[in-house]
Amino acid sequence: MFEFHKKLRSLTFFDPACGCGNFLVITYRELHLLEWAVLSASRESGQQVLDVQSLINIDVDQFYSIEIEEFPAQIAQVALWLTDYQMNMKISEEFGAYFARIPLKATPHIICANALQTDWAEVLRPERCSYVLGNPPFIGYTQRSAGQKSDMEVVCHNIHGAGVLDFVAAWYVKATRYMHHTRSLSLSKGLQTLKL
Ligand SMILES: C[S@@+](CC[C@H](N)C(=O)[O-])C[C@H]1O[C@@H](n2cnc3c(N)ncnc32)[C@H](O)[C@@H]1O
Repeated sequence: MFEFHKKLRSLTFFDPACGCGNFLVITYRELHLLEWAVLSASRESGQQVLDVQSLINIDVDQFYSIEIEEFPAQIAQVALWLTDYQMNMKISEEFGAYFARIPLKATPHIICANALQTDWAEVLRPERCSYVLGNPPFIGYTQRSAGQKSDMEVVCHNIHGAGVLDFVAAWYVKATRYMHHTRSLSLSKGLQTLKL
């Protein structure tokens, strides 16, 4: 159980088109619920939980993302902090000890940038990434702006016929390369799920 609890803290999540952060928020909430289940189970197994604050490991700094628009990027950051606060209030009720992370120390790593022109490894080293997730934009060949066409060319320049693919394909290509650049089989195992 302790190993599992430690593992929850070690996981990292990367959304390279995070918008307002819904996917990150849901992931964080579920991670919190898992931690909560671990703490409840250790209490039921007879262990006293005297200081709940010292037992809460997971935090918003396990989340990494890129978003091209400034406004949603800011919302995503605040949304993660709000989720953290809400989940901490629930834990406070359950364990009868008030717990709030004020002042805020940890920060989600949300970069406002063009994900197709950014080296993802600079946002999060691939060997440290546990999950890539998200919902990047779907835009057909004829609907793309000039900027989006050129972004697609930058990413897919060496792929024959890629110009007619949907814009979202550029995220798949980048995600595949990102996973490929993990240094060894055991490191690449770190990237357990590719869900775009
Ligand atoms: C379908 S929305 C994702 C919604 C997101 N899951 C949420 O919870 O809000 C796609 C997002 O990709 C962003 N986007 C579009 N092109 C991008 C690019 N080149 N780099 C980074 N983000 C981009 C859009 O601004 C939009 O917020």
